[in-house]
Amino acid sequence: MPRLSSATYLEKFRKEILDHREPNKPCVTICSGTGCHAYGSEEVFGGFVKEIQRNGLKEKVDIRRTGCHGFCERGTLVVIFPEEICYVGVKPEDIAEIVSTTLIENKIVDRLLYVGDDGNKIVRESEIPFYKYQSRIVFGNNRLIDPKRIDDYIALGGYSALAKALFKMTPEQVLEEVKEANLRGRGGGGFPAGIKWETTRNAPGNTKYVIVNADEGDPGAYMDRSLLEGNPHSVLEGLIIGAYVIGSHQGFVYVRQEYPLAVENLNIALEQAREYGFIGTNILCSGFDFDVKVHRGAGAFVSGESSALMTAIEGSVGEPRPKYIRTAVSGIWERPSNLNNVETWATVPLIINKGADWFTSIGTEGSKGTKIFSLVGKVNNTGLVEVPMGMTLREIIYDIGGGIPGGKKFKAVQTGGPSGGVIPESLLDTPVDYDELTKVGSMMGSGGMIVMDEDTCAVDVARYFLNFLAEESCGKCLPCREGIYQMLKILNRICEGEGEEGDIELLEEIAGVVRDFSLCALGQTAPNPVLSTIRYFRDEYEAHIKEKRCPAGLCKALISYYIEPEKCEACMICLRNCPVEAITGGKNLVHVIDQDKCTKCGTCLEVCPPRFGAITKLSGVKMPEPVLQGAEVIRKRGGKR
Ligand SMILES: Cc1cc2nc3c(=O)[nH]c(=O)nc-3n(C[C@H](O)[C@H](O)[C@H](O)COP(=O)(O)O)c2cc1C
Ligand code: FES
Repeated sequence: MPRLSSATYLEKFRKEILDHREPNKPCVTICSGTGCHAYGSEEVFGGFVKEIQRNGLKEKVDIRRTGCHGFCERGTLVVIFPEEICYVGVKPEDIAEIVSTTLIENKIVDRLLYVGDDGNKIVRESEIPFYKYQSRIVFGNNRLIDPKRIDDYIALGGYSALAKALFKMTPEQVLEEVKEANLRGRGGGGFPAGIKWETTRNAPGNTKYVIVNADEGDPGAYMDRSLLEGNPHSVLEGLIIGAYVIGSHQGFVYVRQEYPLAVENLNIALEQAREYGFIGTNILCSGFDFDVKVHRGAGAFVSGESSALMTAIEGSVGEPRPKYIRTAVSGIWERPSNLNNVETWATVPLIINKGADWFTSIGTEGSKGTKIFSLVGKVNNTGLVEVPMGMTLREIIYDIGGGIPGGKKFKAVQTGGPSGGVIPESLLDTPVDYDELTKVGSMMGSGGMIVMDEDTCAVDVARYFLNFLAEESCGKCLPCREGIYQMLKILNRICEGEGEEGDIELLEEIAGVVRDFSLCALGQTAPNPVLSTIRYFRDEYEAHIKEKRCPAGLCKALISYYIEPEKCEACMICLRNCPVEAITGGKNLVHVIDQDKCTKCGTCLEVCPPRFGAITKLSGVKMPEPVLQGAEVIRKRGGKR
């Protein structure tokens, strides 16, 4: 492997790589991100290698494993360039047909195309609605490069921003560019990266650290993992540029233990970057030295908090500490330490290459650039989406996400991870922007976006997130440890049908204490799910407390399943499917649910044929008398007792 000794040599080397690549040569790319891996992308890749060889096409067709494309639910994704033909849900048994039809006969395998809402089949990946409305400036290269091959990254201009920063700009000029771009932290708080870099740069001391936060503890979020897995060099390049500005010679990547592929690809990237001279001593012969260590986190949500993460890197338990002095000034081993999120670092090379003016032309007044979200929950198209700041929640959920499945009604969307807030339908036109989301009681967070339909209970949602936070609180400070636990106890009671008058006010009071007096942002933001659900769905809390009714029909203690005698056709389907044998009846006898035995699993409702529709979910109403008495069996279709 070459050790690149200057910016000019890097450019020459890039040209050499490109000269060896034929732009019109077919290239079969197979998504090998964790999602597609779970669908069996390795077998698909192996299958293509064999089939291409078997057909004597080895010299005529390239094959490449890539990082996550974002549309993981449709994996394994196979995209064939240069036409960008996209096949979804590819299985090993489809490979022979793809090779013979597409690679040999130049035709499309219709049955493997994405089918739009209108029933039309879409050939090109970028025309699938899920991708069409996105602006994938940070995440887009994932689908083009093999993360294990540095040459792929260089071919697309990789490390040219580093060369530009080292040879054409002073650290001050790079800092100015990042400040002008108003790049705000993508990991949660949205703090301007340039200002944080400047604080660490100006802090006294010669030893300074730069760190990548790849802890990503939010349930359902996997943007950082996919970026680190799929394009690790983009994160490293941003980190080296940051180190150059700050005057740091040692960096860390703090990555959670549960991300083995990200760690594997990162370590390969580091090794290759060292061999090429992008990391180590005298980088590209510029005289600048910088190296990076990978620290594997133990998987606690709180360890993603800056002071906790730095304590963990020092070798202690990853718990937060009071930040009378900010970590930017006194972090790892009390040295100035600059921490940024994976996505923040990966955005830096783009800003250096294309300029702050280009970057600020995307987004809103206060939030520039794009943001990657993990769009999950009750939405047709789930996956990773990168959108310009300012796109509305409605556009993300309906245009990209394809709306709510099964003809159900949209209820709310939760942004900002477990400490974020729930946003109702009336605010669907809110633009996604740090300040706008905060105004409506939620936050950007690191990019979790969970869509909920009419079957979701607002109180149960608050309970779910609080349960997560209660388990993840490190327990070091009393307001967080006790306050979250007490709020959770109240929410549990409400969902169990034991809510009392005054519970809502008590929740609000405790929330205020937890928010104002907790040690770190875990506690300070923990009340958000409770306060935002009370703010927008107070009537649901009241229904649970006063009427013992769960309007969404979800809280088990507040619902019952009931077979309407006049609709029951005694078909025995529910009776046979009930897992706890709570249903009695016979071939000619109307069925009855024994409420004492019923576990409220809902199987009967699912299996009752829609043409009968005999099973109803009741909440907050008295069970009809004959059924309560249990024994009254009504004859049907002339059946005899
Ligand atoms: C409990 C808790 C967990 C956090 N987890 C993460 C995380 O997993 N990833 C992340 O980038 N930031 C996380 N943060 C935010 C970090 O403390 C810090 O603000 C961020 O890494 C700074 O990078 P940024 O400015 O680029 O966003 C967390 C904060 C708290 C309070
Ligand atoms: S892992 Fe293949 S699309 Fe995400």
